Amino acid sequence: MKIVFTRKIPTELVEPLKEKYDIFMWDRENEPMPHERLLQEMKDADAVFTNVADRIDKQLIEQSSSLKVISTMAVGYDNIDVEAATTHGIAVGHTPGVLTEATADLTFTLLVATSRRVVEGMDLIRRNEWQSWGPFLLTGQSLYKATIGIIGMGRIGYGVARRAKGFEMNILYHNRSRKPEAEAELGAVYCSLEELLQQADYIVLLAPSTPETKNMISHEQFEMMKETAVFINTSRGTNVDEEALYQALKEGKIFAAGLDVFETEPISNDHPLLTLNNVVALPHIGSANVETRMRMATLAIENIEKGLAGERLTHIVNAEIYGNGK
Ligand code: GLV
Repeated sequence: MKIVFTRKIPTELVEPLKEKYDIFMWDRENEPMPHERLLQEMKDADAVFTNVADRIDKQLIEQSSSLKVISTMAVGYDNIDVEAATTHGIAVGHTPGVLTEATADLTFTLLVATSRRVVEGMDLIRRNEWQSWGPFLLTGQSLYKATIGIIGMGRIGYGVARRAKGFEMNILYHNRSRKPEAEAELGAVYCSLEELLQQADYIVLLAPSTPETKNMISHEQFEMMKETAVFINTSRGTNVDEEALYQALKEGKIFAAGLDVFETEPISNDHPLLTLNNVVALPHIGSANVETRMRMATLAIENIEKGLAGERLTHIVNAEIYGNGK
């Protein structure tokens, strides 16, 4: 059976598989496999080890006649046509859980970096423009005891809330369903999206990318925010109207934004958002610590091996392929 790895991953993870499987591995770590090449390699593949940067669409799924498992090294799977995979009985696996704390850490990093203008400070020094200590030089917003509003109180949202507790922040959240454990353990207060946007000093977007969440934060939502508000997005770029975000930042309707994800990735370096001093932009590195990425890769391989052995994946996206819906 053939497994296609769309990126180069550490040899020690792949080597043991070579005894059992025919392995194709794209030889670049930080460059995507061209889609045409992917289509070609997938024609006789039984499984694919993929990531957020690949487009696993209907055409690819339908032309890969022996495909049994699509395994992404990510929690989000909006790059995969899950419906097409399900129609063809192909298992889709992902890696929730193992990346929760790393992504919550990075989300909090953006909160701190944007509120205290960390990158602007570094740039000032690099430009040799730091003339003296100044009473209001690079003054930002306070974090301690401020109000954080978390949109999407899943595993990562909960991790961010736990960190916010350490800063004695008031925690508001909005989610499809109430989270009694977050309310009891962390004192998180459930509220409507409008209330959250109006009251929070820090608005953290952690919703998955679905047709319902597309551009869920747009002009109307930025209008509701405080002028001192900081907006953080570590979910998916498609959840935010970037043009509206640019205007809000440019016109001082909000204080700053911290972004790890973009509508189009990689974001082009001439994107208007990158001309603004009050934006901290990162190249989609939410879960990027070594330990976490190793755990994600290991889990994605486990999903493949289980799927190829005819077993249920450890973390399955489309459980309906197993017939009982669970
Ligand atoms: C990263 O964005 C992921 O979904 O894991």
